[in-house]
Amino acid sequence: MRTLIKHVLARTAASDSLEVAGWVRTRRDSKTFSFIELNDGSCLGNLQIIADQNIPGYDSVQNMTTGASVRVTGKLIASPAQGQDWELHASELKLIGSAPEDYPLQKKGHSPEFLRSIAHLRPRTNLFGAAFRIRSRMAYAIHRFFQERDFVYVHTPIITASDCEGAGEMFRVTTLPDDKISKDAEDFFEKRAYLTVSGQLEGETFACALSNIYTFGPTFRAENSNTSRHAAEFWMIEPEVAFCDLEGDMDLAEEMIRVLVLEALTNQDQDFSICEKFVDKTLRQRLEDVAAKPFQRITYTEAVKLLEASGKDFQYPVKYGLNLQSEHERWLTEEYFQQPTTVFNYPKEIKPFYMRLNDDGRTVTAMDLLVPGIGEIIGGSQREERHEVLLENFKHHNIDPETYAWYSDLRKYGTVPHAGFGLGFERLLMFVTGISNIRDVTPFPRTPGNCEF
Ligand code: 4AD
Ligand code: MG
Repeated sequence: MRTLIKHVLARTAASDSLEVAGWVRTRRDSKTFSFIELNDGSCLGNLQIIADQNIPGYDSVQNMTTGASVRVTGKLIASPAQGQDWELHASELKLIGSAPEDYPLQKKGHSPEFLRSIAHLRPRTNLFGAAFRIRSRMAYAIHRFFQERDFVYVHTPIITASDCEGAGEMFRVTTLPDDKISKDAEDFFEKRAYLTVSGQLEGETFACALSNIYTFGPTFRAENSNTSRHAAEFWMIEPEVAFCDLEGDMDLAEEMIRVLVLEALTNQDQDFSICEKFVDKTLRQRLEDVAAKPFQRITYTEAVKLLEASGKDFQYPVKYGLNLQSEHERWLTEEYFQQPTTVFNYPKEIKPFYMRLNDDGRTVTAMDLLVPGIGEIIGGSQREERHEVLLENFKHHNIDPETYAWYSDLRKYGTVPHAGFGLGFERLLMFVTGISNIRDVTPFPRTPGNCEF
């Protein structure tokens, strides 16, 4: 029975016989024995193997080069060496798969660009192994956060006919041949279909039945922005809460970020430390500050005033009625408040049809949660629950009410105030690891011009 190296390294007692398997990181030979550093990806650490020349399997030790896979049985004993508690004295070695000299991950530092070009091998490096283990644990923490608060997990569809954000940034799904590409009625679904940009609209229907729900799944955007924070395929967490207003929504968003930051700080010491060491030396301090100080909350109108008075020479203009750009968001959260900041009540013209109109008739109950280093990490709102107002919104946004009849039905039958938001999972990971490019927290990133692997 194979034991994962994370469990071997965490042992409190020696063992007469253990079996491990993994990939060779390095090997050093002396006259009569060899040292092998073995990693199996279960944790950051390697297990040191000491293999004597007389044991079965030693005859292939020369092929146990960096990247080769091996299986080892042996005796675990306390290590006299510095920096490790245990070492495995092998009684048997077995080469499973060799790795010829052209194995790209020979021991030296590689640039993130190069590692992206070998995305099928980069999980075998320390940093990427850590990043993807953190990704898994954060996903688990998100499910726990909602499950502990009585939210029901809903699987909203990936193929859809509706454009939730109304930005027209959708990938089309079709089985039509090239010469019939416009014949929607002959297509698989007998209408135009797309990959979803958000599970929100379907999520709302479930919130208006089960009260508290969340989605957590892949979403797709064909926005042609080649930035370090945008991907064409990313994962989004979208809670939706019945009988909830904007304030309750902002409370939930802020609580969630705080809990997830604490999770990152407390629960993944080794993996977190390597991000601290190689990515961002200020990471721990930054996240501890986030956890300790209250978040800020201001209206869009106030934010615009602060930006106008900042004296900063921004690339994009700041004016009431214009969208806040990343540089504006980052100034607010990094320089001015130096703390996560929720901006709310945006002008209705720059926001989608589903947001609730405020009494001023000019703004809607939108909110964006901004964090230092990233900018927008969450976007949400209270939803328009008044049937007539929603129908008016359809008109302003040039939306055919027929296609959203099911959505308006929620307002017709037992309507309730409700609110929700979307958290970009990769942006959260960038925030808690300090990794500055979305391509490096995504196993196989999809960006404009890039669909390898
Ligand atoms: O602000 P967005 O567009 O909001 C929605 O989609 C709403 N329907 C959510 C809701 O209320 N249920 O997207 C939400 C978040 C953003 O704040 C950002 O973190 C992330 O999704 N996001 C992206 N992440 C990576 N790449 C992209 N292209 C992204 N677009 C949005
Ligand atoms: Mg947004």
